[in-house]
Amino acid sequence: MEPRCLSLPDASVLVFPDAVEAGEAAAEHLMKAAKAAIQMRGKAVLGLATGNTPLPVYAELARACQSGRFLFDDVVTYNLDEYYPISPRDPRSYRTYMHRHLFSQINLPAHQAHVPDGSVPESGVADYCALYDRWIENDGGLDFQLLGIGRNGHLAFNEPSDLPIEEFRQTPTRVAKLHPVTRSDALKEFDGNANLVPARALTMGLRPILNARSLVILAMGAKKASIVAKALQDPISSKVPASLLRLVPHQTVWMLDEAAASELD
Ligand code: GLP
Repeated sequence: MEPRCLSLPDASVLVFPDAVEAGEAAAEHLMKAAKAAIQMRGKAVLGLATGNTPLPVYAELARACQSGRFLFDDVVTYNLDEYYPISPRDPRSYRTYMHRHLFSQINLPAHQAHVPDGSVPESGVADYCALYDRWIENDGGLDFQLLGIGRNGHLAFNEPSDLPIEEFRQTPTRVAKLHPVTRSDALKEFDGNANLVPARALTMGLRPILNARSLVILAMGAKKASIVAKALQDPISSKVPASLLRLVPHQTVWMLDEAAASELD
């Protein structure tokens, strides 16, 4: 079934009957962007996300790879974020999530997959974050970025901020303090024990994210409806980080299910 297409002044929004169809469409969008980049410059650089929302995307990418429809030999990936501090081997790390849901299912060479390393020592973490941005730049920037949205509007772990919009959009990869809403949403990954939820994370900054040549943001379910309406229809504000995607409307597609779209006017 064709998605419903909403034309907002500064956003393209596609509304799908359910999360699986939206995920499949996002995977198709990603593969198309990757194929175009590989054809043009010999490789595709993809920004990847974690959380529940991208799972149908990764399932579709795994199917595409296993059937030979899309191969990852010429793909380089950069994940958006990671808890800090955390061991990459910790079952709750985003590195483990990526291995389980995508990297172990596809033919992406291990050295071409980057997830911020939550085990770098405190003394070297600022340099490590700057290096992560340099790796992305040296790879020619992101051809495609996949995004979810937090219930408080965060992108990756770029949490709501008081910074002026122009300053916020230039933020580099860095260590960030997690917002109380984010920490409470993370409880389920940490056995419901608030003391185990990290207070900080490494997050790709808004600068590399918004510089991506193509972006898809996914939001599913009724619990995202109110923040989606704010991000798309209230004035652009650093208090709702996802609203800054409206600064790059031509590169960005919002893919929602009916529930997440239910509070749009
Ligand atoms: C986490 C991630 C975000 C993600 C968000 C939404 O906080 N750092 O990148 O978009 O959660 O998660 P979910 O897709 O599970 O709703």
